Amino acid sequence: NPLPSLTAPGFIYRPDVAGGNAYTVAAGQVQANVLGIRRAGAPLLTTAWGYGPVDPVSGQPQVSHPGRSFVVQQGSPIQVNWRNDLVDAQGQPLPHILPVDQTVMLQNDPANNPIDGVPIATHHHGGDTMAEFDGVPDQWVTPRRRQTGPGIQLGTPGDVGVNGDILANDGSIRYQYDNTEEASLTWYHDHAEGLTRLNAYAGLAGAYVVRDSNEAELIRRNLLPSGPHEVGLVLQDKVFDADGQFAYPADSILAPVPTEGLDPSLPTHLPEMYGDVICVNGVVWPKLDVEPRPYRLRLLNGSDSRFYTLTFDTTGGVGPFLGFRLIGTDMGFGNNAPMLRTLTIGPGERYDLVINFAGLAANATVVLRNTAPTPYPLGAPVVPGSGPDEVMAFKVTKAFDRAYPKLAPIEDKTVLRGWVPLGKPAGTPSSAPRLPALRVPAGAPVRRVLLGEGSDEFGRIMPLLGTVAAGTLGFHEPSTENVVIPAGQTSVTEVWEFWNASVDSHPVHLHLVRFRVLNRQTFTCTLTPKPMINNWTGVTITDPAAPQPVLARAVTAPFPYETGWKDTVECPPGVVTRVLVTFNRPGKYVYHCHILSHEEHDMMRWFTVTKA
Ligand code: C2O
Ligand code: CU
Repeated sequence: NPLPSLTAPGFIYRPDVAGGNAYTVAAGQVQANVLGIRRAGAPLLTTAWGYGPVDPVSGQPQVSHPGRSFVVQQGSPIQVNWRNDLVDAQGQPLPHILPVDQTVMLQNDPANNPIDGVPIATHHHGGDTMAEFDGVPDQWVTPRRRQTGPGIQLGTPGDVGVNGDILANDGSIRYQYDNTEEASLTWYHDHAEGLTRLNAYAGLAGAYVVRDSNEAELIRRNLLPSGPHEVGLVLQDKVFDADGQFAYPADSILAPVPTEGLDPSLPTHLPEMYGDVICVNGVVWPKLDVEPRPYRLRLLNGSDSRFYTLTFDTTGGVGPFLGFRLIGTDMGFGNNAPMLRTLTIGPGERYDLVINFAGLAANATVVLRNTAPTPYPLGAPVVPGSGPDEVMAFKVTKAFDRAYPKLAPIEDKTVLRGWVPLGKPAGTPSSAPRLPALRVPAGAPVRRVLLGEGSDEFGRIMPLLGTVAAGTLGFHEPSTENVVIPAGQTSVTEVWEFWNASVDSHPVHLHLVRFRVLNRQTFTCTLTPKPMINNWTGVTITDPAAPQPVLARAVTAPFPYETGWKDTVECPPGVVTRVLVTFNRPGKYVYHCHILSHEEHDMMRWFTVTKA
């Protein structure tokens, strides 16, 4: 199956008016040939969700699964009128296509019931976005905006669709994205409280590509593959039923612990979701025909819970595997381009790499192979030959396209090291490292965030955030991380430490900011049970007998593939992961584990930024 590249015509949004900066994008339902097969003489269609532009004449959305890509320029803000079109032909709200657990978060909140259709909240992940446009969990909207969450204040500037009748009738919600980020692959996805994992799985996710002058210069100087040789790969694992429809495990029989008091006939949230089938850009196990030349691959892990440890395999799993240059991380290019043979990408993370297919024989097949255990890193290994083992394939079948020049010697690390610093005249490469040295400012506040596990009122496992001092806390408990920008300053830089006292790795994501990984350090501690709200239990590590967790002596450097700007970081079990983060605008945002099944049960917390 041919894969749509991130920039393939037809898969990017166009502004509502040519040359304008406003877009109208609807979330809706679509029949998609996700499995890429035919049955009874016709393509087998899966009912999926996605996003798409709204036809200016008919007012109907052209939904694709997953959503189309935004491609924006740094420094050019856009406005998006987001519309919830999860309705049938008569305009009646559609039911969810996946089993909804009525006991978690919003679904369990009497103040908001009954909910009229499926709420959505659209978040730009990686965006340096004003809080009122961030699409956090309480900024949800039901179809036709009949109901809105408490985070939406209608009447404040910018939140009402201003694009004519369609919007006035349908009730979109207008968000502004400032696009101050540097060139990076960010993404947008649903974030509605208690439904994120289901809405994103159903297809409410898409890529958001930021371009800048530095990247353009690298392309102009022939240092980066571009056009058809830049390919975005959105990885998601799925489960299909016998009819080829999306399934999502939700049976309490599958719960690893007894679920007392829970109605076994109703769907339940489970600790994680692992699909046995891998989709890339909404297509199962695709194959991409490539030319014998370097390609820029932009990986995004949009899965619920699955980490991928990836190799480019031409040897049937024997290795050594094809090397690649890691040129960028979540939020931009790195300092240099280390040659790697593997990396691990957790939910929410992105990696940018250049791989050269030029040395391979004609018709050679390269398998993108995954070996990450589930749960990561201490769970069951991937069975060779099983579904999650192979992600996709590249086949060197196309002739070299002479319309695109050969690249400058991309294998030469020193060439890639000389990134053109922003603001320098074009054509003046610098040999200086691009990223500033990692230096913690004197007196920088240090926050000690705890990652732990508890259980909910039905005894179900509940991953939680909290603080080392207070222990674990639920999503609805008051915020403990209240960042203050000192008077007379425009930003504040802090160290956030993630103390993971659970047995799994958690990819922790902060909204609003980008950060750098400082280091990691293992620790030991004694966990004490802690009573929490709603008969939940959590843990604290402030046991009087062992008042402080004990840190190992060794401090380890970031993984070789995470030395650039990040917004999501892998926090391994038994380890403190430290990041250096700068907050630049006031508002109320969330930080959470990007394992979506963790995030909404209840591994998410608010943080605030205020100006002194
Ligand atoms: Cu990608 Cu709060 O999310
Ligand atoms: Cu987690």
